[in-house]
Amino acid sequence: MTHSAERPRVVTTVADIRQLVQSARREGRRIGFVPTMGALHEGHLSLVRAAKEATEFTVVSIFVNPTQFGPQEDFTRYPRTLEADLQLLAAYGVDAVFAPSDQEMYPAGFDSWVEVGGIAAPLEGRCRPGHFRGVATVVLKLFNIVQPDIAWFGQKDYQQALVIQRMVADLNVPVEIRVCPTVREPDGLAMSSRNRYLGPESRQKATILWQALCRAKQLAAGGEKDTAVLAAQLRSMIAAVPGAQIDYVAFVDPQTLTPVRRVDRPVLVALAVRIDGVRLIDNELIAP
Ligand code: PAJ
Repeated sequence: MTHSAERPRVVTTVADIRQLVQSARREGRRIGFVPTMGALHEGHLSLVRAAKEATEFTVVSIFVNPTQFGPQEDFTRYPRTLEADLQLLAAYGVDAVFAPSDQEMYPAGFDSWVEVGGIAAPLEGRCRPGHFRGVATVVLKLFNIVQPDIAWFGQKDYQQALVIQRMVADLNVPVEIRVCPTVREPDGLAMSSRNRYLGPESRQKATILWQALCRAKQLAAGGEKDTAVLAAQLRSMIAAVPGAQIDYVAFVDPQTLTPVRRVDRPVLVALAVRIDGVRLIDNELIAP
């Protein structure tokens, strides 16, 4: 007989998740936390596995945070697949899922925001004004609600992880941040909830992001140090794909995200590309 794992406990109110976490803590368990917007995939699950290994009580939040979406963005059509998500999480022995309503997180009168400075300004910050303000605000709220010892983030959203690390350091938030590598499909496409928007043809075209990152790595390893030359190569490669529109191709310092002219030390290559209207991001560290 196969033994199906239990569905995780789902709570929707701040009071209930606090109570669950508090009683786990009283038993001496450390609290691991993985914040998500749901539509879970292997990328999310890699974070859940890391949390399960390192702590004794794992909380996953599923909340499509309205304040991190711009007015023209995909908030209303963002995939919401709670039942399937819970089934996936059941196999991992997650202790609690926090899935609050918009109202629970942003009740009438809500009016306080977290603004992270320079690190939030370029790349995603420039393309998506207000995005990181929404992210930092909801993550600080979630940290205050769950009060985890350790929280996990993915390198897929490299700048987001830096923004959260900056916030935690600056505001003395007692949470340790850990970052896990990007999980990819067999053809290299970074897993993302937004990949669900891609039809079969667009899905095929979307591999251009990973191909471009690999080309950058290859050219740099072959001795091309000039990031202007590298960027031009990547741009023309991406532009050759019908329906691909570049938001940015950036070669930046991995700590400060400021532009770098030469690959004479580790450099972060960060891409944002729309494939038939679906906005995808990816990044990879390259070395001389
Ligand atoms: P979401 O896009 O659901 O991602 C949740 C976490 O999973 C983030 O830390 C993200 O970096 C990580 N992740 C996504 N795809 C990944 C992949 N292919 N490999 C590894 N990790 C991956 O990021 C958010 O939600 C939100 O901004 C959130 C932090 C929850 C705040 O609302």
